[in-house]
Amino acid sequence: MLDLTGKNALVTGIANNRSIAWGIAQQLHKAGANIGVTYLPDDKGRFEKKVSELVEPLQPSLFLPCNVQDDAQVQSTFDAIQAKWGKLDILVHSLAFASKDSLGGDFSSVSRQDFSQSLEISTFSLIQLSHAAKPLMTEGGSIVTMSYLGGVRVVPNYNTMGVAKAALETTVRYLASELGSQNIRVNAVSAAPIRTLASSAIGGFHDMMNHVEQVAPLRRNVTQTEVGNAAAFLCSDLSSGITGQILYVDAGYEIMGM
Ligand SMILES: NC(=O)c1ccc[n+]([C@@H]2O[C@H](COP(=O)([O-])OP(=O)(O)OC[C@H]3O[C@@H](n4cnc5c(N)ncnc54)[C@H](O)[C@@H]3O)[C@@H](O)[C@H]2O)c1
Repeated sequence: MLDLTGKNALVTGIANNRSIAWGIAQQLHKAGANIGVTYLPDDKGRFEKKVSELVEPLQPSLFLPCNVQDDAQVQSTFDAIQAKWGKLDILVHSLAFASKDSLGGDFSSVSRQDFSQSLEISTFSLIQLSHAAKPLMTEGGSIVTMSYLGGVRVVPNYNTMGVAKAALETTVRYLASELGSQNIRVNAVSAAPIRTLASSAIGGFHDMMNHVEQVAPLRRNVTQTEVGNAAAFLCSDLSSGITGQILYVDAGYEIMGM
């Protein structure tokens, strides 16, 4: 049985009820984990209100603003974890960003600024959050991030985000190698396309979903809950022998050549 009783889990990346992180948070809660949630603050406090209402049923014991581009916010997030929980067991990294311009058109046209911003938010943040989590994972731990096949193969319009996901998957392996001696595991779930706020910025996203439905062995797309279940497995002791891996939750699409 998947049992996360007594585990403290920080979940990043919930923007709304379609967010993959929301699917993951619900499964972690169902398995008994004590949940902490971060949200991306904005000037008008829109995300704060929306996310706090959404996550209320999970009764998070921490609810914190955390823009990964702001070192002070990252620091206060982990200071709050130290003060309130004393230790961290699970870190869910489910966030990414690329400008609309870098998710379509000619790949070679991306600007230095858009490229750097995307890699900083989508990839460096995993290193940054893992570094902050490491001293708090005193009893070992599990770090799970979210990837996509566009980091391994060319998917039209995924462009800069494909580079960010390739770097993310490599980051998973290097972090797993470093943190393994502390019994901290690091893995990624590579999900099939799911309609979310972030994915709506990708040109031709509808075609990506249709294609998976036609070609994947299961002849369908996947749900947020299926991704949440796989992530919860990677967060739990049921996967205690697994680290540095990319687990595909894509209805089998990745195995297909044609
Ligand atoms: N939706 C898909 O089809 C799909 C497929 C595979 C992988 N993924 C990955 O899943 C993850 C979650 O995306 P999603 O599809 O649930 O979309 P989403 O829009 O619900 O989540 C993206 C999150 O990133 C957060 N974010 C953006 N910039 C941030 C910053 N500077 N600091 C902190 N948080 C920031 C947003 O607030 C949002 O909560 C991403 O890594 C995405 O690439 C998505």
